Amino acid sequence: MHQKLMIVDFRSDTVTKPSKEMLEAMFSASVGDDVFGDDPSVNELERLSADIFGMEAAIYCPSGTMTNQIAIKCHTQPGNEVICDVTSHIYQYEGGGIAFNSGASVKLILGDKGRITARQVSENINADDVHKAHTSLVSLENTSNRGGGSCYDLDEIRDIRKICDENSLTLHLDGARLFNALVAKNQSAKEYGETFHSISICLSKSLGCPVGSLLLGTKDLVKKARRIRKVFGGGMRQAGYLAAAGIYALKNNITRLSQDHLHAGLIAEALAKKEFVSEIFPVETNIVIFSVGQPYTPVTLVAKLKESDILAYAISPVQVRFVTHLDITPDMVQKTIETIKSL
Ligand SMILES: Cc1ncc(COP(=O)(O)O)c(C=O)c1O
Repeated sequence: MHQKLMIVDFRSDTVTKPSKEMLEAMFSASVGDDVFGDDPSVNELERLSADIFGMEAAIYCPSGTMTNQIAIKCHTQPGNEVICDVTSHIYQYEGGGIAFNSGASVKLILGDKGRITARQVSENINADDVHKAHTSLVSLENTSNRGGGSCYDLDEIRDIRKICDENSLTLHLDGARLFNALVAKNQSAKEYGETFHSISICLSKSLGCPVGSLLLGTKDLVKKARRIRKVFGGGMRQAGYLAAAGIYALKNNITRLSQDHLHAGLIAEALAKKEFVSEIFPVETNIVIFSVGQPYTPVTLVAKLKESDILAYAISPVQVRFVTHLDITPDMVQKTIETIKSL
C-alpha cells in the first residue's frame, strides 16, 4: 500500500478545507433568498457576528476585499483621502480598488510592521485647504499581513480614534485576521466594536471557512453597505449554505487559534538557528516572515522545501512567508522543523 502523500501547505491560511463537522453544518442549513432578506442562516450569522462585537449590524459578503471596499465606499466621497500604512492590504492587494470604486486618494504612512501611530495619523491629516484632498477615513489592519501577523496595542488604537473624533474622520479596521489578535493579546471583541466605525472580519482565513467575510457597523452603515454590495455584484441568493460554515466557525474555531500561534513560534525557532535566515519578524500570531540569504534566494528556498512537500510563499525578492492554520497538525510542524534543520 502507498502511504498517502502529506503536503504541508504554509502558503496561506486561506488554503484550509472545511472539516467534516463544518460540512455537516452546511448540508443541514436552512436557506432562502438572501437578496430578499429571507435566508435564516445568513440572518443568524449577521446577528451572531454583530453581537460578538457589540455592534448594531453586519452584512455577509463573499470576500474580505469586498467588505473593505464597501466600507471605504461608505466612508468616503470621490476626491477624499484615506490614511493607511504603506503595506495595507486595502492599498497593496485590492487591485487599486480605493481609486476604482471610491475615486479616493491615499496617504501612505511608513508604519512599524504595518502599524501606524496616533501621532502619524495626526500629522497626515490634510489642512482645510482647496489645494488638498479632504481627509475623511483612517484604515488600520490587525493583524497586519505584511507586518508578519503583528498586532496593535489597543491603547494606540484608542488614541487614533480620539484623533479621528477631533477631526471628524471615520475609523475602519481590516480585521481579516482580527481573531488571531484577540486570542494572542487576550483582548475582547467588544473593545474593538466600541472603537471602530466599521470592522471587516474574514471567515475564510484562520477560521477555516471556504468563503465569506462580514462587515460590521451601525444599522445605518450596514443599510448603505447593502446597497453598495448589490452594485458591486455581491448580492447572493441561498448563501445560507455558506453562512452555516461561518456560524460553525465562530462557535468552534476561535479559541484553537492559539495552537496555530504555537506552531508559528516553533517554526520561527527552527529558522532562527539557520545561517541563511537573517531578519525574522517577531512572531505574534500565525505568520512567520523572514529574510533569506546565501546559499538561497526566496525562490530557490521555496523550491527546495517543495522537494519535501512543504509549501511556503516567496513574498518579495528577499522574504519568505509561512502561515499556520487549522489544517496544519503537530506532525506536520515536526516534519517541517526536521526539514529546516537539514537545509
Ligand atoms: C489583511 C487582509 N485583508 C483583506 C484580505 C482580503 O480577503 P479576500 O481574499 O477574502 O478578498 C486579505 C487576504 O489575504 C488580507 O490578508
